[in-house]
Amino acid sequence: MDFATGRKKAPQSKWKVLVLFILGTFSVAVVWYLRAEPYMPGPYMIAEDDSVMCSQGDVEKKALLMIENYTRNHPAFLQMSDFFWEKNLSAYQLPYGTQGSEEILLKVLALTMRYDMPDSIQNLPCWRCVVVGNGHRLKNSSLGDVINKYDIVMRLNNAPVHKYEHDVGNKTTMRLFYPESADFDPNLQNNPDSLMVLVPFKTPDVQWLKAVLNNEKRSRKGFWKSPPLIWDVKPENVRILNPYFMEVTASKLLNVSIKSPRKHKEKPTTGLLAITFALHLCDVVHIAGFGYPETTNNKQTIHYYEQITLKSMADSDHNVSHEAQAIRRLLEARIIRNLTHF
Ligand SMILES: *[C@@H]1O[C@H](CO)[C@@H](O)[C@H](O)[C@H]1NC(C)=O
Ligand SMILES: *[C@@H]1O[C@H](CO)[C@@H](O)[C@H](O)[C@H]1NC(C)=O
Ligand SMILES: *[C@@H]1O[C@H](CO)[C@@H](O)[C@H](O)[C@H]1NC(C)=O
Ligand SMILES: *[C@@H]1O[C@H](CO)[C@@H](O)[C@H](O)[C@H]1NC(C)=O
Ligand SMILES: *[C@@H]1O[C@H](CO)[C@@H](O)[C@H](O)[C@H]1NC(C)=O
Ligand SMILES: *[C@@H]1O[C@H](CO)[C@@H](O)[C@H](O)[C@H]1NC(C)=O
Ligand SMILES: *[C@@H]1O[C@H](CO)[C@@H](O)[C@H](O)[C@H]1NC(C)=O
Repeated sequence: MDFATGRKKAPQSKWKVLVLFILGTFSVAVVWYLRAEPYMPGPYMIAEDDSVMCSQGDVEKKALLMIENYTRNHPAFLQMSDFFWEKNLSAYQLPYGTQGSEEILLKVLALTMRYDMPDSIQNLPCWRCVVVGNGHRLKNSSLGDVINKYDIVMRLNNAPVHKYEHDVGNKTTMRLFYPESADFDPNLQNNPDSLMVLVPFKTPDVQWLKAVLNNEKRSRKGFWKSPPLIWDVKPENVRILNPYFMEVTASKLLNVSIKSPRKHKEKPTTGLLAITFALHLCDVVHIAGFGYPETTNNKQTIHYYEQITLKSMADSDHNVSHEAQAIRRLLEARIIRNLTHF
């Protein structure tokens, strides 16, 4: 090369320089791309200022290729207008639609009054989301600071934060739950402005919400585990997830029939549902604390905060190995990334 000598180049060596320049740029890009392999929390997703990088529209672009009829046109949460001025006729009953539950939904939505995303999130140009699963792999992960850096931190069910901050962070933008998985001390485990998002599986779930918000007579009937009968949450922080996302999770990610739910009992977990929801909201979707031990391993605990094993899932309507396949497909297509080993 003659850069050092500064000799005048023949016209054809200009082309050589150009080709070398292109090759050089290309290999830098390749090296950068390879660095971006999904891996343990590493520099690939943390920008120089220590924040998580955001690429607007990234998830949407990839999801359009992978999920049939993917659209972001559906509102995240149910709103009173869905049932009031014009009655939406849903094709399915809960958990996949609102058919038959319209009246009770209307009453609850009249209590919560808010159906939107908080302005602090709505106004962001690019949404970086992390879905924090409840998996054992979060234990001793020291991921708390990494998790706290995302714009939207989604948590599931009664996963605790208090005393686990170092591993799971202390920021909760929204928590997806159902009555049996609701926290008995929601104020200890959430921030004052965390959205509490009810995932309605059945009509009694909506009745429970109405009863606790309105201080009415509660009933334990219709629940497989006693939900909190006193649940101290501000109504304006409560949302009801649009069952559309449950429908998409079942029919598109798991490919299970939603038309005859009694015959096909398999239902999505809140975890896979939250990932699907994030795919319809966010520009970046990372997951942490997902994955179960081998189905033959009945000693390994499955959560970061309690000593239960896979045996406890045996009688549920969930199929964790089937869900693992769905999550793996999303990871392989790089629609989502894992912060902990999946
Ligand atoms: C996608 O939308 C088309 C047109 O509405 C419909 O015919 C088709 O069944 C949908 N496919 C799936 C998998 O939902
Ligand atoms: C209700 O109908 C409106 C208008 O057709 C639609 O945008 C909205 O997604 C529907 N809501 C539900 C919960 O299906
Ligand atoms: C976490 O760290 C504690 C204290 O060092 C240790 O006793 C425990 O075995 C660790 N647990 C896991 C799952 O790594
Ligand atoms: C999380 O903890 C840090 C350090 O204790 C504190 O400064 C911050 O306000 C907490 N964040 C939330 C959302 O509670
Ligand atoms: C989904 O299930 C249907 C019927 O059970 C089957 O025909 C189809 O191939 C499946 N699709 C995928 C992507 O698994
Ligand atoms: C769970 O899913 C796996 C993988 O799709 C399948 O082989 C298995 O039969 C399913 N188990 C049940 C109980 O349906
Ligand atoms: C998840 O991350 C681990 C590193 O923590 C990596 O080895 C693994 O390949 C990733 N899993 C998937 C399915 O991408």
